[in-house]
Amino acid sequence: MILIIDFGSQYNQLIARRVREHQVYCQIEPPEIGIGKIRALRPEGIILSGGPASIYEAHSPRVDKEIFDLGVPVMGICYGLQFMIDALGGEVVRSEKREYGFAELIVGKAGAILAGVEKRTRCWMSHGDRIGRLPAGFRITASTENTEVAAAEDANRRLYGLQFHPEVVHTAEGKKMLANFLFGVCGCQKSWTMKSFVREATEEIRARVGDKRVVLGLSGGVDSSVVAVLIHRAIGRQLTCVFVDNGLLRLDEGDKVRALFAKHFQMNFRFVRARKAFLAGLKGVTDPERKRKIIGRIFIEVFDREARKIKGADFLAQGTLYPDLIESRSAFGGPSAVIKSHHNVGGLPKKMKLRLIEPLKHLFKDEVRLLGKELDLSDDLIWRQPFPGPGLAVRIIGEVTEKRLAILRMADAVLQEEIRAGNYYRKLWQSFAVLLPLKSVGIMGDQRTYEHIIAIRAVTSEDAMTADWARLPHELLARIGSRIINEVRGVNRVVYDISSKPPSTIEWE
Ligand code: XMP
Repeated sequence: MILIIDFGSQYNQLIARRVREHQVYCQIEPPEIGIGKIRALRPEGIILSGGPASIYEAHSPRVDKEIFDLGVPVMGICYGLQFMIDALGGEVVRSEKREYGFAELIVGKAGAILAGVEKRTRCWMSHGDRIGRLPAGFRITASTENTEVAAAEDANRRLYGLQFHPEVVHTAEGKKMLANFLFGVCGCQKSWTMKSFVREATEEIRARVGDKRVVLGLSGGVDSSVVAVLIHRAIGRQLTCVFVDNGLLRLDEGDKVRALFAKHFQMNFRFVRARKAFLAGLKGVTDPERKRKIIGRIFIEVFDREARKIKGADFLAQGTLYPDLIESRSAFGGPSAVIKSHHNVGGLPKKMKLRLIEPLKHLFKDEVRLLGKELDLSDDLIWRQPFPGPGLAVRIIGEVTEKRLAILRMADAVLQEEIRAGNYYRKLWQSFAVLLPLKSVGIMGDQRTYEHIIAIRAVTSEDAMTADWARLPHELLARIGSRIINEVRGVNRVVYDISSKPPSTIEWE
């Protein structure tokens, strides 16, 4: 495995993904990880990530210097390089000005990391401070016009540093450089595959659970579905999946989930009808944050009540992914403003006193999809667009009622059908309908109408942090609009949302 020390760079998850794309397992740990734990992990190589700090700041992050004496190859990137040089007695020059953007890397006597790389190649810079003097034993392997020490190495001690970012796509040969480190220097094997993951994860789950029972809140989304199938493979009917029908689901959604998990996979499956409780709680509520809080609270109550009926349940399984884990413990993230309180099962473990099982907590989303494929889940499920926990409630602006839910559900079903038929479903991060709290005048036949407005939202995105509205073909939009107006009772106008995130968000509430 490769250990990545997280100095807080916005790119450090990208480093991990790049390493895993080379089929090498890696783990990101904070700099406070002690040398004892590092030894216990027995890494084949260590990567020190970049970060926003300057080595001269009072509280700049530092990892135990002993890592340079372990005999394990170390590669520092940007701040990671500066930390290494400072720790080993070289000099880092303070700089007021940042160098940001493309630079031409001029490779000298290439060394191990730059072996086989073009003599002149594009790289991506993002740094303030730079290296002034290298410690004894180091030599420069590449420079740019502005930065003399763009890459350096001490081949004897197997220490390497890059001032630029090999993990971002803008560095043309970054992939080769990482491969050189992983295979050329560290001698890693390509052993990280989903087949090996399934084998190890199922053994671990079996050993941990023993003869106890596991409860899982299944939503039918990618993550909880993959967790369900993985755990089911490990312990079969010792797993019970609980599906809460909150009445805020899309058309036929509950039935589809039941058919797949209860019938096809033959899992222990509990379908909890809680529509009434949710709608009663939401009666008269229009404030988006209040809606979210109410739904979250009722979900926990309903789920908790159901789980208590399962005798001998000691474990709660969750579909936590690696980015959640890293972000929740990041020392550099700092408190950020609550834009929307997200509904997931985060509040459950505290209340339920169950032990947690999170088999996906070291995986990225794309790896979860590969895992789903390895577990024979259908493409349809693996490529499902995300659907928010509070469901259609955050897509009904204003009060949530049965009647308004029925309108939105129908409009959404038409939209989904057309998006799939037009072959756009997988190209979009999300596509959905929103019901507005407004009516407008229309004409149908010779009659004046005064009815609801549906907004269509379709976005492209990599990770939901930013998103752009999708440039859907006009013909497709035309079909969606006319079908919704013709087929959904109570709607006489359809509009298309052309806002990107930021400054808008993906969901309307
Ligand atoms: P926003 O609207 O904040 O949404 O741009 C970003 C992504 O998160 C999804 N979303 C949620 N997912 N529980 C979830 O599991 C929630 O409460 C929730 N709210 C928003 C949203 O669909 C988008 O993909």
